[in-house]
Amino acid sequence: MTALEFGSLPSNGSPVRSDSVANSVDDLSTRRFLFVTGKGGVGKTSVVAALASRFAQQGKRVLVGETSPKEHLSALFGRAALPTQITELSPRLFGVLLDADVALKEYGALVLKSERLVGALFDNKLVRGFFHGAPGLKEWAALGKAWYHSTEILADGSPRFDVVILDAPATGHGLDMLRVPKTIIELSAPGVLRTDAERAWAQFRDPVQSGVVVVSLAEEMPANESVELCSALDTELHLPLAAVVVNQVVPLLFAAAERAALADLPEPQEQDAAALALAAGIRRAAREKVQVESVARLAQLGAPQIQLPFLAEGVSNAAALGKLTAALNLAR
Ligand SMILES: Nc1ncnc2c1ncn2[C@@H]1O[C@H](COP(=O)(O)OP(=O)(O)OP(=O)(O)O)[C@@H](O)[C@H]1O
Ligand SMILES: [Mg+2]
Repeated sequence: MTALEFGSLPSNGSPVRSDSVANSVDDLSTRRFLFVTGKGGVGKTSVVAALASRFAQQGKRVLVGETSPKEHLSALFGRAALPTQITELSPRLFGVLLDADVALKEYGALVLKSERLVGALFDNKLVRGFFHGAPGLKEWAALGKAWYHSTEILADGSPRFDVVILDAPATGHGLDMLRVPKTIIELSAPGVLRTDAERAWAQFRDPVQSGVVVVSLAEEMPANESVELCSALDTELHLPLAAVVVNQVVPLLFAAAERAALADLPEPQEQDAAALALAAGIRRAAREKVQVESVARLAQLGAPQIQLPFLAEGVSNAAALGKLTAALNLAR
């Protein structure tokens, strides 16, 4: 059996995982900052919500930073929308929409330390126009704010959040966002902005404190994109890859020999029951073949792999989120 084959189906229909895919998130939960990216639509937000829920169940205080205004995180916690102020979505699990205007204004308040000055500056249309035009500033507003929250310390000396998870933009834009601190360090004059970028960059590159989580599907195109993404993280940015999450994995119904025999057969065109059953079997075997191959490729990326099951009903509410969360294992 390969690392990624499932055994028999239990009565609830969920896959039985082979022992070699531990699905452990212990190594993730100890890091202060997680940057989650991957191809558009593969389930990044669903995975972020599941990881956050698992860590919160473990007793950690978790902040999820959402970068997309078209987010679907709020729905998973039974809310209409995600506010731009940090809000508790479920016990110990906090969420915030990282709106660039709001984040820049907050940043200004930290730096300028004067409400009046901040209002005069950031409520000015011309200044706002300038910020929107400045390359990388919007990305830094989101990334820098998420990072800042991962460094906050309460009066009793404990961290405000044990883990900050950034639900980052998809691959290309996600990489652009990760390039910004480096660009600020290289191009900006000494000052608060550069010092913060240096601190953030040092933290992002430290595998004890931070990590990138790449979400993929066990399909050809998403797997290709994930491999390229991981290569850029490794060779260009030198950022630690903390885990590869393979989302929407289906249980294997066929043994390897059956899969090989079925997957490449032409689908019968007849409409009788036997032909329809054979066509369905061929499609399923083909899907499983691609899944096994993709999962094996993704396993070579040199990071622990986490597999999450395909849920026929999708992941659009708290019940489905619960099922995804239950697939993540914690030993401690
Ligand atoms: N394990 C799963 N099983 C079935 N459906 C899933 C699973 N995970 C996610 N989905 C579905 O896939 C769709 C995309 O999920 P999600 O919004 O989490 O992806 P995303 O990568 O964050 O998308 P975007 O790139 O638009 O931000 C949603 O309809 C969600 O319900
Ligand atoms: Mg999303």
